[in-house]
Amino acid sequence: MNDTSLSRPNFHLKEEIRDYWSKRSETFDLAFGHRIPPGPEFAAWQRPIREQLGTAPLKVLELACGTGEVTRLIHDLGHDVTALDFSEAMLAVARTKHAGKDRLRFVLADAEDTREPAGVYDAIVCRHLVWTLTAPEEAFREWHRLLKPGGKLLVFDGDWAKPTRLGRLASFLIRQLDRIIGPDNHYDGALSDRHAGIMRELPFGHGLTSDRLEPMLKQAGFGHTVRLSHAPIAAAQRRTANLRNRLRTLVYRRFILCAAR
Ligand SMILES: C[S@@+](CC[C@H](N)C(=O)[O-])C[C@H]1O[C@@H](n2cnc3c(N)ncnc32)[C@H](O)[C@@H]1O
Repeated sequence: MNDTSLSRPNFHLKEEIRDYWSKRSETFDLAFGHRIPPGPEFAAWQRPIREQLGTAPLKVLELACGTGEVTRLIHDLGHDVTALDFSEAMLAVARTKHAGKDRLRFVLADAEDTREPAGVYDAIVCRHLVWTLTAPEEAFREWHRLLKPGGKLLVFDGDWAKPTRLGRLASFLIRQLDRIIGPDNHYDGALSDRHAGIMRELPFGHGLTSDRLEPMLKQAGFGHTVRLSHAPIAAAQRRTANLRNRLRTLVYRRFILCAAR
């Protein structure tokens, strides 16, 4: 047996990603930046959705809904939501959270090959999915296929591979706080080595930016794109976060990109 066979799983990367998120499902909402509390932060996340998608009721597909936090933003705007994820454990949390709501359907499926009918959605929304795609070009062609002509794709994501210069200083200060007050076990905790292992294998493992994403979306057939700032969301988060989490809002460059079919 060599070192490689010890350190690498003998199953497909996508299975490893699914297993990783399934294990994180129970505590996902406890890690800063995942749960969207009511108030200014909720309003800040919801604003780009309201402004870019158009007036309800639209047929919206949310890809990688996870525990259903972004699902709530879209549903509360009055849209019909199909919320999809490939982790049954994540979906179970979302289903419990949103039990009894109409205009909401959950689907267990792969976002890169949804098996949903073509041309039926007015909009697709995803937060923190694109960076973890294993076959992004195919996924973008699939999403283009699912949208009606003129439909919108709204992506919330970030460059999780490279902290900004200010982010490196913020990370240093977070490590000092971890030493003084103890680590935050919910912030990736013991799974972070596994996270790093997955990152190394991903097409966007070296970073995801809107500069990189925009031409790929054009290549998949998307037309006009609009770049939106994530800064109002981070500012809203800092209004209620503790010091360690305020620093966390500075570590990575995040972006919002909207592309029209
Ligand atoms: C970082 S979490 C984000 C969850 C949610 N979008 C949010 O922002 O709260 C990533 C989610 O993507 C899902 N995911 C990753 N790759 C996927 C794929 N190919 N198909 C469907 N879901 C996927 C995971 O199961 C997990 O729920």
